[in-house]
Amino acid sequence: MLDVNEIERHDYDVIIIGAGGAGLRAAIETGQAGLKTGLICKSLLGKAHTVMAEGGMAAALGYADKRDNWKIHFRDTMRGGKFLNDWRMAEHHAKEAPERVKELEDWGAVFDRLPDGLISQRNFGGHRYPRLAHVGDRTGLELIRTLQDRAVHQPGLDVHMECTVLDILKDGDRVTGVVAYWRQTGRFVVFTAKAVILASGGGGKSWRITSNSWECTGDGYALAYEAGAELIDMEFVQFHPTGMVWPPSVRGTLVTEGVRGEGGILLNNKGERFMFNYIPEKFAKETADTVEEAQRWLDGDKNARRPPELLTRDVVARSINAEVKAGRGSPHGGVFLDIASRRTPEAIRKKLPSMYHQFKELAELDITKEPMEIGPTCHYFMGGVRVDPHTQMSKVPGLFAAGEVSGGMHGANRLGGNSLSDLIVFGKLAGDGAAAYCKQAAPPVLPADQVLASVRRATGILNRDSGENPYLVHDDLMTTMQDNVGIIRTKVELEKALTDLEVLRERASRAKAHGTSQYNAGWHEAIDLRVMMIVSEAVTRGALTREESRGGHTREDHPGEQGPWGAVNIISYKGADGKMVTEKFERPPGPPELVAIANATLEELEGGQNG
Ligand code: FUM
Repeated sequence: MLDVNEIERHDYDVIIIGAGGAGLRAAIETGQAGLKTGLICKSLLGKAHTVMAEGGMAAALGYADKRDNWKIHFRDTMRGGKFLNDWRMAEHHAKEAPERVKELEDWGAVFDRLPDGLISQRNFGGHRYPRLAHVGDRTGLELIRTLQDRAVHQPGLDVHMECTVLDILKDGDRVTGVVAYWRQTGRFVVFTAKAVILASGGGGKSWRITSNSWECTGDGYALAYEAGAELIDMEFVQFHPTGMVWPPSVRGTLVTEGVRGEGGILLNNKGERFMFNYIPEKFAKETADTVEEAQRWLDGDKNARRPPELLTRDVVARSINAEVKAGRGSPHGGVFLDIASRRTPEAIRKKLPSMYHQFKELAELDITKEPMEIGPTCHYFMGGVRVDPHTQMSKVPGLFAAGEVSGGMHGANRLGGNSLSDLIVFGKLAGDGAAAYCKQAAPPVLPADQVLASVRRATGILNRDSGENPYLVHDDLMTTMQDNVGIIRTKVELEKALTDLEVLRERASRAKAHGTSQYNAGWHEAIDLRVMMIVSEAVTRGALTREESRGGHTREDHPGEQGPWGAVNIISYKGADGKMVTEKFERPPGPPELVAIANATLEELEGGQNG
């Protein structure tokens, strides 16, 4: 008979799930507030998907172009998100990102520099001005290194590595801790806390071609959903235009947008620079139609027009998809990305060192001499846990979310570079929100029945006599999501995906892991399946509900943005019968002062930091 008192237990004020940029930034804040904080990583500290945002973090510092300011960043973000973003989150982000970046600089981040010594900022899609503070093409890594260095010195912080959270514990409505297991030993552990901050990143592992690493199964979405929180706009999944397509073992690995930010161009198998054929009418006048013009823009000529390779990611990913479908793709089903003809080998090695090594080592290709073969890869969830824009608290008292796992900030499509700044802005806000909440929250209690139910569900996978291999179920899930819930969607395919998911859920619930709970990768996989099923269903139901095409969601059977949908977010939550409810939510009108900024002309907003 299982006794809850025999399970290892740790007591905290705050538990943070996830040690990427958002989790680490939140931990710094809760540490500074004097709160005893437990930071749980599914993997090892320092190894988070944050490192896959390579090209930079967007912040209107106004160093590379003095006309930039938070209002233009805000306007770009709302327009990139097709006006479905949470207005206040986008405001916080644009206003506070510069301060957060300067803080990183104070904490020792080694940014690339302009000749005058200020932080260098590079171009990225959808950003009006060069705005991405960067460290070559290793910006995410430097962000993690800097924050980690700072966080581990916070008094009251414990880091728990290789630990997977199974369930959030509740006392009535409010959060009271989590139950988890150590991946190495398979032993269970309980963490009590007044507040839990989800900072667990995205869920790309349900797709076959993805930039996401093994941890990104979407745990935070499922934990929040099961705890009674709402998920918002899950249909918006970002397919980054440039992932590796060859060799097969590394298919999906990110090729940073920084390559295009440094002047890289996209070519089809006829050698045509095809992006000129896909420029949305409203951008036609702004987009460079000659290589020389694009070069002038990249070289910082304020009057030059931008290259079409730096249109927003949704547009570029769809264009690549269309070229491949039309038979103009590369030998391995992508297109070509060429930086070799645009920059000197020295410049490429200096600004894109990781890309140089990545292709050299993984594809035996020298990017200073030859074009890369690339194609879209599932990269980022715009949707996520619905939170209060100021405190980051979800509908569940004491449950917070920050970074990719939270929704609302990016609307229908995220601009590249806005993710790293999102992590540090909202990581801090979540830390502040949790600290304020803890001041008035009652001490946590341990709900023994919930702990035992969670443990029994996990051990059931090992204890049942027979059952399917969980890897086979995951493999079929990836096929379903890749084929039916990809870049271009239709009602027929989405309905097929829902039918498939029902069967897969049933198979997942009967999956069997052999052996004991120690070092048992098959058991971990079976546990993750439950999470991936919830995430996949939320994305598919959202995609079926939204009968239009907007940002990262393209419905072939409902082309174009449809006016009324611009005022609708889609919410999913667990209904009283245990089934997922997905419904439309009418957005309240935006705050007039922010609507005015989003609709203003650039001339009205340009004017430096006080503009
Ligand atoms: O392309 C990249 O470096 C990715 C950046 C991001 O997702 O923000």
